[in-house]
Amino acid sequence: MRLRPAVPCPRRVGRQRQVVTATRTQPLNSPPPGLTDIEAIRALYRLDPDVVHLNHGSYGAVPQFVVAERRRIEDRIDANSNRELRYLLESEFHTTRHTLAAFCGIDPGGLAMVENVTTGASAVLESFPLRASDQVVVPDDLYPSVHMAVQRACSRADAELVSVPTPFLTPVNECVDRLLSKVGSRTRLVVTDHISTMSARVWPVHELGSTLADRGVAYLVDASHAPGPIEHPAKDLPCDFWIGSFHKWVGAPRGSAGLWVAPQWRSSMQSPVISHANGWNYPQLFDWSGTHDVTPALATPSAIAFLEWLGGSVLWQRSVSVARTANDFLHHRWGGRVLDPSPAIPMIVVEVPEAVVAPEQLGNAARWLSDVAKVEAVLFPMYGSGWARLSTPVYACEADIAKFAEALEAYPG
Ligand SMILES: Cc1ncc(COP(=O)(O)O)c(C=O)c1O
Repeated sequence: MRLRPAVPCPRRVGRQRQVVTATRTQPLNSPPPGLTDIEAIRALYRLDPDVVHLNHGSYGAVPQFVVAERRRIEDRIDANSNRELRYLLESEFHTTRHTLAAFCGIDPGGLAMVENVTTGASAVLESFPLRASDQVVVPDDLYPSVHMAVQRACSRADAELVSVPTPFLTPVNECVDRLLSKVGSRTRLVVTDHISTMSARVWPVHELGSTLADRGVAYLVDASHAPGPIEHPAKDLPCDFWIGSFHKWVGAPRGSAGLWVAPQWRSSMQSPVISHANGWNYPQLFDWSGTHDVTPALATPSAIAFLEWLGGSVLWQRSVSVARTANDFLHHRWGGRVLDPSPAIPMIVVEVPEAVVAPEQLGNAARWLSDVAKVEAVLFPMYGSGWARLSTPVYACEADIAKFAEALEAYPG
């Protein structure tokens, strides 16, 4: 099958980096480019134009507008750090918290700004009142840092960690059944992803949350990938703790995530580090962890404004449609399996058959793609097969997928 891009991709002209102009850092004053004008969209980011970028899911990409906004905030702080941090920060955080809460669909009183999901998960697990012989139930493909935080909390309390096998190819409803079959009278907490990192599996968090609430079990949702692709990702979500990343799909500067805690747990929350804010109420308790860089959090509303300006929900529909086309294309070209033929988010997982690259070679192949072919993608072996995880954010197009396939086929081994 030949890939016929519905959306034309820009020619990469020469090897020169694109010049950052003043207008590109102030785009919200002008009409946005059309979502099919990929070249104009790419010019709004700081991406290396010589590279095919298909791993947005790990570390995101920051638009130039957001970088400029962050610099503006930093300049202001540098000009008078005492005034900005001592007297004005509280009100800046207040405004930021309200904007982020509205975006996520939650009440601002429950939202703490944290550096990343890893920190938020640690804070929850350090604060959760586990006792000896309690149980925490998780799927075994939970993100490793979150899994380890659960493990440490369980060993400290002499509680039991039940890590339920949810193999890669298992349909998500079966994963839920497996998980619930392990929830019993000793279970105090269940932790799942909203969108899993390697399988891009989307968990039915609303249904699972309701079931757990009925059984009196607390629920922590690692929603790292949800903000952005999923509108108001925490709205009406029956859970006790929710953590979402703003530096992945929202395009905030790296170091920006949100932790939401349900009212009944707020008084028992402890901040990730002990600072002079100790003793403050949650969520302000999390606002000051010693002198640190507050600009990623304060610039996050500008990332939300940028996405809205660029297209809002329409932007995500286009990105998901590129992901579906990519699924079809790679399935027809290589004949491998695709994990979810109709993805709800712009992230897909497809099998890389042995004839293309052997599973045990995929680590080296990913590095070769990055070093030589200038393609960024996630490649990994799982249960004896090879897999690729590809993200199709707003600046990716169908031709990028074809370039990825051609490059991987050319891997010399
Ligand atoms: C599901 C999930 N949880 C947590 C994380 C960790 O995110 P961070 O590095 O922002 O802490 C990731 C990162 O990719 C992830 O995919």
